[in-house]
Amino acid sequence: MRISVIGCGYLGAVHAASMAKLGHEVVAVDVDPVKIERLAAGDAPFFEPGLPEILSEAIASGRIRFTTDMSEVAGARVHFVAVGTPQGPTGAADLTYVDAAVAALTQYVAPDEFVVGKSTVPVGTAARLAASLSEAVPGATLVWNPEFLREGFAVQDTISPDRLVYGVPSGAAGESAVAALDEVYATTLAEGTPRLVVDLATAELVKVSANAFLATKISFINAMAEIAEVVGADVTALADAIGHDARIGRKFLNAGLGFGGGCLPKDIRAFQARATELGVGESLAFLADVDAINLRRRAHVVTLAEELLDGDVTGKRVAVLGLAFKPNSDDVRDSPALDITARLHELGALVSAYDPEANGTAARIHPEVHYVDSADEALRGADLVLVLTEWNAFRQLDPVAVAGLVQNPVVIDGRNCLDRDAWTAAGFTVRGMGR
Ligand code: UGA
Repeated sequence: MRISVIGCGYLGAVHAASMAKLGHEVVAVDVDPVKIERLAAGDAPFFEPGLPEILSEAIASGRIRFTTDMSEVAGARVHFVAVGTPQGPTGAADLTYVDAAVAALTQYVAPDEFVVGKSTVPVGTAARLAASLSEAVPGATLVWNPEFLREGFAVQDTISPDRLVYGVPSGAAGESAVAALDEVYATTLAEGTPRLVVDLATAELVKVSANAFLATKISFINAMAEIAEVVGADVTALADAIGHDARIGRKFLNAGLGFGGGCLPKDIRAFQARATELGVGESLAFLADVDAINLRRRAHVVTLAEELLDGDVTGKRVAVLGLAFKPNSDDVRDSPALDITARLHELGALVSAYDPEANGTAARIHPEVHYVDSADEALRGADLVLVLTEWNAFRQLDPVAVAGLVQNPVVIDGRNCLDRDAWTAAGFTVRGMGR
């Protein structure tokens, strides 16, 4: 099928390459000429395992084309909208890019074609866009097909997702939209992926409520960590124990620095803002606590660092391992690790920070921090070590070798990812989160 994808960020670039991988003929559009040039040359503009491979494969097969010229979408049957919806100044989602993409697309969409929203939007957006699309192009249909990909697993999550959700209008238009999307995802559906057909508002809500639930689960365990810290209990053992209850489940119960990234933090804020607009703000009042618990984790680590450095970080050498918001990513948007690093620097600590992939993205936001090229370089002479992103390379560090590099064997394990016994045996004072 001929497909267009508007927006070549994390979501759009992966979606476009994955659609080509599934055998479709794809034209991918973005307003940023530098991004388009890199993608066209097979150079992924961000770190995402598996993306360079499917991108090169798609380019070699001739099934993908990258352009800044929106008119090239003409002739595609399905047009995916995958642009960003960043957090606006009030916390509500900024829909400028979605509105602009749909307006620009409308000029080239023909009747019987489908505009498929993938961006995360406030509930009600799809109905508004559907109305303007059908006014401009009678016979064209707008549907919402939210995306649930996780960075680091984006290719796998796109090609073999847990489920597909189609938000469609009722009647014949909805039926043909389902048929078109079934054709797009034929390979995925053949693997037995569950497919749920719902209305537009439900599809929009599925996405934001899934992220709100995940954020709540993480903040729940971090709230337990706060209590465990006071009473001397171990939140990891607690998570293991409650996680055995299948109704609770062990996934997303890792206490630590909390959630960051380009999705969960902004999505829970946008969801609250939308609920308030709709007059049901109280229903999501708890998300303010979810956000507050999450942000307290960062402050807690800074306080802990001060405590371990005798009350004052000024002039102390602090080794930071990890800047990305999670491993296998170079994304530092709202990253707890980078936030803590910048605060320690601001307080006067002599920070040496290292991340296997995110030094460059971090330096763009916080150029004042000193970044180094290896964990060893960061660790040399350190008065305190902070492990802030649970990269495998950090989990696997040999604590005996690390002890030989640092000045003071004290480590804050911000992600509870180190082997505490091994580090303690190597002479370290280990401070975990909620343990
Ligand atoms: C999240 C969702 O997991 C995806 O399903 C969704 O599609 C995506 O947002 C989106 O809306 O686009 P992502 O932002 O890639 O995906 O990251 P997650 O894997 O959800 O991790 C988010 C944050 O939570 C990270 O900072 C991670 O370190 C933290 N986290 C995760 C914890 O602190 N504890 C956990 O147990 C799990």
